Amino acid sequence: MKNVLIISASPAKDGNTDLLSAQFKRGAEEAGHRTEQVFLRQKKIGYCHACNYCKRPETAGVCAIKDDMAELMEQLRAADVIVLATPVYYYNVNARMKTFIDRTYADFMNLKNNEFYYILASADPSTESIDAAVNGLRGFTVCLDNAMEKGIIYGVNAGAHGSVRDAKAMNEAYELGKGI
Ligand SMILES: Cc1cc2nc3c(=O)[nH]c(=O)nc-3n(C[C@H](O)[C@H](O)[C@H](O)COP(=O)(O)O)c2cc1C
Repeated sequence: MKNVLIISASPAKDGNTDLLSAQFKRGAEEAGHRTEQVFLRQKKIGYCHACNYCKRPETAGVCAIKDDMAELMEQLRAADVIVLATPVYYYNVNARMKTFIDRTYADFMNLKNNEFYYILASADPSTESIDAAVNGLRGFTVCLDNAMEKGIIYGVNAGAHGSVRDAKAMNEAYELGKGI
């Protein structure tokens, strides 16, 4: 059994990112894994100040900003599998996802040997068009020790709220979760 942590960055409750994440979660649970889902829209996470407080010997690994990110870092450290789920905004990850990623700076060195899955939702029908967003997520995982990219869900052609519901990506997300 693995600890699966799903980070969902969409502001839209029950939107396309949420629907795909829920499918992945259902599959993972059916396969016997323990899952936890964090909705970034419910969290208070400020921008990284780049103050390097976290790099001083006496405060190493601790962020100077006191908000919900401390709890999230604990959840990340406890996870075996990390799922990053984001809507595509201007052909990249959305700002909530990026702000979250930036804030792992305090202690990203202690995220080791994690399996990663990416879930993306976009209006554009082509998967290639959201490569920049995928690369945005890879910009994070490439900095981690032995991060393993295991799968990507392209929830494309989903411009309207909840419209991914009829897409094949829904079943793909379920199967990917189940295959952990
Ligand atoms: C600010 C903003 C920017 C967007 N930019 C893009 C884009 O560059 N390319 C695209 O295909 N869709 C874009 N979209 C559409 C969303 O990616 C799409 O509707 C997605 O399914 C939303 O997911 P959600 O329901 O989880 O919020 C944008 C939507 C918003 C609100």
